[in-house]
Amino acid sequence: MTIQRICCIGAGYVGGPTMAVIADRCPQVQVTVVDLNQARIDAWNDPDLSRLPVYEPGLDAVVGRARGRNLSFSTAVEAAIADADMVFISVNTPTKTKGLGAGQASDLRWVEACARTVAKAAQGHTIVVEKSTLPVRTAAVIKNILEAACDGEDQRTFSVLSNPEFLAEGTAIRDLEAPDRVLIGGDDSGSIDALAEIYAHWVPQQQILRTNLWSSELSKLTANAFLAQRISSINSIAAFCEASGADVREVARAIGTDSRIGPKFLNAGPGFGGSCFQKDILNLVYLSRHFGLPEVADYWESVVALNTWQQHRIARLVVQKLFGTVTGKRLAILGFAFKADTNDTREAPAIRICQDLLEEGAQLVIHDPKVKADQMARDLNQEPASQVDRLSGIGSWAEAGSVEDAVMGADAVLVLTEWQHYRNLNWQALAARMRKPAWVFDARAVADPAQIKAAGLCLWRVGDGEG
Ligand code: NAD
Ligand code: UGA
Repeated sequence: MTIQRICCIGAGYVGGPTMAVIADRCPQVQVTVVDLNQARIDAWNDPDLSRLPVYEPGLDAVVGRARGRNLSFSTAVEAAIADADMVFISVNTPTKTKGLGAGQASDLRWVEACARTVAKAAQGHTIVVEKSTLPVRTAAVIKNILEAACDGEDQRTFSVLSNPEFLAEGTAIRDLEAPDRVLIGGDDSGSIDALAEIYAHWVPQQQILRTNLWSSELSKLTANAFLAQRISSINSIAAFCEASGADVREVARAIGTDSRIGPKFLNAGPGFGGSCFQKDILNLVYLSRHFGLPEVADYWESVVALNTWQQHRIARLVVQKLFGTVTGKRLAILGFAFKADTNDTREAPAIRICQDLLEEGAQLVIHDPKVKADQMARDLNQEPASQVDRLSGIGSWAEAGSVEDAVMGADAVLVLTEWQHYRNLNWQALAARMRKPAWVFDARAVADPAQIKAAGLCLWRVGDGEG
């Protein structure tokens, strides 16, 4: 079976870029990305490619080539499903906030809604592909819903595959165009072949891995758990370095040259953010308890606990270094996105650190090249201040249009995202604008320590025991 028409439900960070690359690489396949969110679809259709709803280096060029040719974005969900011979489900699967499993289990209401819409609208034979990250055995739920919709007279048939996405934000296009591997889980070889044929347009066959459904679903959770575990591991060692005089970058280099450990994902920082690491580990924790494996659950839960601790630790040490109080003090926050090269702030370390400092009564001035003020307000659950009473004891925040504005009169600068721009700041000039004694807290270790010290600023760098 050769796929001619694809529908992807969910035009988010994954659905949009993934389908854009498929359409770009397979010009003979019609790809329609659908979403219930009209504003998002309008943004994907914006003639000005700099206004796409997702910021990803290279995405504008890919969308520019395929859109209007074999790539379209629409809110006509059922029509696109009816037309398609393959439907990707790429909707959000956040952690449940209430009810059974609240705080850990994935909220599958959007996935279930998709399965029901597919069950209603699909025609002929439809291959349904799980692209969202899902709890192990979700494919059984989707199959159940699809099969229940086909009564005796119904000629329609379905096949369900798992095809998790491993892209990282900021490098999504590179990751999609040259993936380490593509993973397809399923029990129907014809459908697996059909999906593999799509990827084979640009991914070498030996990098297209085939597994059963449950291994594929679990591999996605496991990959994220292992990656996050490395970050918690190196952050735990960073704290040890600060206490003992070692330097975490030297330690990372020393262990990373061991080919069994490898050099990647050993950057100490303010803890991992992003929409998935915490969510997916907590999901693994929940499933482990469900399967009667409490020790396994505790093991993975500690990875998240260490991450939360690291963020509170950084906020706490800022307070301690600033003479035990930040009430009424102006603190410049450089970077709000969870990592560089994205406008995404989901679970960004900056959120927890800023909230702790606001709680202490600080006046934050936040700069980020891509994150807008209304997003910061939603994340901090607080509107920006129009005027500030320094002695009120109530924390406030404002957005700064430039780093220079952010540091004006500040007692400290906190670097929380590793934007390229923050690597080359003129610390001499910035220091002149700050109130002395002034501090730099470099949670990403991106700024030049020699320059900072030469500018007369006090410096704390993550994992630097000599600082
Ligand atoms: P997102 O929130 O950016 O996008 C999801 C979209 O689905 C939203 O636009 C929403 O309106 C739409 N949607 C929800 N229910 C719908 C329905 N019934 N019909 C039509 N549209 C509907 O989410 P995302 O970041 O793209 O993540 C999607 C999935 O991919 C998640 O399971 C996530 O864990 C996984 N994932 C994300 C990343 C990442 O980097 N963000 C990477 C790999 C995997
Ligand atoms: C991560 C995975 O890397 C992807 O493979 C996966 O598809 C995706 O999650 C997902 O399932 O959503 P992403 O969260 O976009 O991708 O970005 P990462 O580069 O993994 O960074 C995650 C967090 O870890 C960021 O806050 C980053 O700053 C932090 N990090 C990363 C470190 O603190 N140190 C490192 O060495 C690497």
